[in-house]
Amino acid sequence: MNDLLRHFQENRGGLIHKWSHYFEVYDRHFARFRDRRSVLLEFGVSHGGSLQMWKAYFGEQAVIYGVDINPACKALEEERIHIRIGDQGDRRFLQELRNELPPVDILIDDGGHTMEQQIATFEVFFPHVAPDGLYVCEDLHTSYRPKFGGGVRRRGTFIEFAKSLIDALHGWHSRQPRRLSVTEFTKTAFALHFYDSMLVIEKRPREEPTHVRSGNPRIAPFRVPPRRPLFGRLADRWVKFTGRL
Ligand SMILES: C[S@@+](CC[C@H](N)C(=O)[O-])C[C@H]1O[C@@H](n2cnc3c(N)ncnc32)[C@H](O)[C@@H]1O
Repeated sequence: MNDLLRHFQENRGGLIHKWSHYFEVYDRHFARFRDRRSVLLEFGVSHGGSLQMWKAYFGEQAVIYGVDINPACKALEEERIHIRIGDQGDRRFLQELRNELPPVDILIDDGGHTMEQQIATFEVFFPHVAPDGLYVCEDLHTSYRPKFGGGVRRRGTFIEFAKSLIDALHGWHSRQPRRLSVTEFTKTAFALHFYDSMLVIEKRPREEPTHVRSGNPRIAPFRVPPRRPLFGRLADRWVKFTGRL
């Protein structure tokens, strides 16, 4: 059992509300940030339990920030847990917050979960995540729920937006520059890890990818022969068919 799950199961602090499979995902990606100076920012404070969990997991050098629209959450501040009140769907608020906070090592979006909020938070805060940091968006299933603005393959959902990030990751390989080119995202995102309801984006500065070879050729070069034109293939089939008669 990992330490986050243990903390959750033994929790006597503020309420924590997560999907059960998230704990494995957290530990898989977050472990390398433990016991070092790290800054974590979570949108969605609720009862403050998850902020306390991060504080315990990351250790004494970690600073934890939480954001919530509910002013009552401010009372949940404690040593190394700072809380800001505002609407994550409001880009002006997000920009002010970004100006105030140091670069963030891990950002977790577990706030209101609407499409606009998830996209606005990503667009304003992804550049503010440290070059080797993580951007985590939770509860992506809201992209399939009409109540949150979702629907299967519906334009404007966060999941459709995230699919376009898969394209952006491949910007260097595009032969259609008007449709896909190298962006800041291409140059700063190393991997997108999709899990049920969760996306973890691993940042890392990237250069144009190169492919490499080692070892010696051991067989003659081979070229895949071009496929015969359709007419020829049909003629072959006809000959075969009439031969059978
Ligand atoms: C799912 S709860 C957070 C749970 C918490 N992270 C945990 O793990 O226990 C969602 C929180 O997001 C807050 N929220 C809803 N809409 C918001 C918005 N537009 N901006 C910021 N926070 C919002 C709610 O007030 C609520 O406290």
